[in-house]
Formats: sequence, C-alpha cells, structure tokens
Amino acid sequence: MPRISCVNGRYIRHSQAGVHIEDRGYQFADGVYEVIVVVEGRMVDEDLHFARLERSLREIRMEMPFGVDVFRLKVAELLRLNHLRNANLYIQVSRGVAPRNHQIPDEIQPAVVMTVRPLAVPKREWVKDGVSIITVPDIRWKRPDIKSVSLLPNILAKDVAVRDGVYEAWQVDNKGMVTEGTSTNAWIVEGRSVITYPPENAILNGVTRLALMKIAAEAKIKVEERPFSVDEAKGADEAFLTSSTAFLIPIVDIDGNRVGNGKPGPVSRKLLEGYSSHLWSSDA
Ligand code: PDD
Repeated sequence: MPRISCVNGRYIRHSQAGVHIEDRGYQFADGVYEVIVVVEGRMVDEDLHFARLERSLREIRMEMPFGVDVFRLKVAELLRLNHLRNANLYIQVSRGVAPRNHQIPDEIQPAVVMTVRPLAVPKREWVKDGVSIITVPDIRWKRPDIKSVSLLPNILAKDVAVRDGVYEAWQVDNKGMVTEGTSTNAWIVEGRSVITYPPENAILNGVTRLALMKIAAEAKIKVEERPFSVDEAKGADEAFLTSSTAFLIPIVDIDGNRVGNGKPGPVSRKLLEGYSSHLWSSDA
C-alpha cells in the first residue's frame, strides 16, 4: 500500500509529492507548520493547534488557507487513504510559489502540505529512566513564538545534542535563562511547583505546555510561568520536557549534573499520568 500525502488538496504518492522549487517556503523559509498527534482518528488538542496555526499565519501576514472544518475533512481523508487511526500529522502552510524576490507578492496562493505517518511514541526507557540533556546558547531570532519552518538554529543545536549522546539541548538566552528545547518546552520542579518560561516571544507556546498547565491545576500542582537559570535547573528537584510528539519525558541529567536523585520524580510522574489520560481519552 503506497504512502499518500496531500499537496494543495491533491492526494498523491508520498514518493512523488512535492512543491515547486520556487516555493517561498523552500527558498525563504516563508511558512509555518503544526505537528499534531492523531489518536483513534481524533486530532489531540485540535482547537489549540489550529488557533496557533492561525496566529502563526497572522504574525507572518498570512491567513488560514481554509477553515478548520475543511482541514478536518482533508485530514480524515488522508488518514483513510493511509489506513491510519493513530498518527503523527504534519501540516505546513507556506506563502506559495513566486519568482525569487524578497518582497512579498500581492497575489500569491499559499501551498498547503500534509503528511501522516504511524504514531511514534517515546521509547519506554526514556520515560521510565529519564533522559540527559545539554545546554547551548539560544541563537534564534526574536520571534520563536511563531511556529516558523525556519528551524536552522534548532536543528544545529539538536545535532550537538545527538553528537553528545543526549536527548535534547536546552537553549539559554544571554541572561543565562533557559528558554526551551530545540523542539520541546522546558520545565523544572521545586517542591510541589512546576516552573516554565512565560509565553512571551522567546518561546513557542506549546500546546502540550498549555494542556499540562490545566492538568497541573487539577492535580493541585502550582505552575509558575517565569524564567529559570541553568544553575536553578541543575539544583531543581526534577526536570522534564514536553511536546506533542515527546509527550512528557523526565530529565535526570543536565550538562553532566544529576538532577534530584537521578530518577524521574513524583511530580513528573503524576503529570505524565494526567497527560496520558488526556491523550488517550476522547476529551482532548
Ligand atoms: N515541536 N518548542 C519548540 C521549539 C517546538 O518546535 C515545539 C514543538 C515545542 C512544543 O510544542 P507542542 O507542545 O505544541 O508540540 C516547543 C514539534 C513537535 C516539531 O517541530 O516536531
């Protein structure tokens, strides 16, 4: 059975799916994207993802190419054609095709690309034993709140992490504060409080981050949205990362320093339990 992708409303073999070489997404990273987990045919936190897509588009002076209802129908068809109920869905909207010129053209049709693949869940041992991370300077532009396809600093930092044999790199601003990971949000735990960077321009306001804040409130775990330093993180009781695809993974080592007792702690475990029910239940 061939894998099928959706390009501008057409369902085509993945191996042949493509956009033109003068697509501005390709030439200027002039586009935005979303990664959504699909469970039993249902997009998890669909409203939050599409609200963020609309916001990212607005911030780069674009509009939604069509409504959420149309997205929903197209995604359902894509899942059906790929015989998938549980999937990782990727949606990219770029400015579209035009002769290369920095100036944004007045008349241009956006390019909308959607792919799905079987749902990949984090490895058991990452969740059970926790992972190690390193810290790197945050060299990104001043608008990481836009989910732009321009991810060069992120992939370079991830490459450093992988070469170091660790899971993720936390990016650190010029004041020594941890902003976020290369494709995940960053959290630490002190007592019964969880601390994570505030939703300003310096981070992507993760959908998992937002869902987890609600779960924390329900579990009577206090959430502090404030920056924390690398030193504070190293001395924290627990640390973890979140994203739509990683869910929640405990961190047990930062730059070679053991966090807490070196094992996933009770607050991380409790929040993961809450997030798992959120993910697999039908109210997400
Ligand atoms: N990454 N921060 C960054 C820089 C990200 O790229 C992501 C998501 C997150 C977490 O956001 P969310 O909880 O909405 O997934 C935070 C996706 C998964 C990716 O690029 O593959």
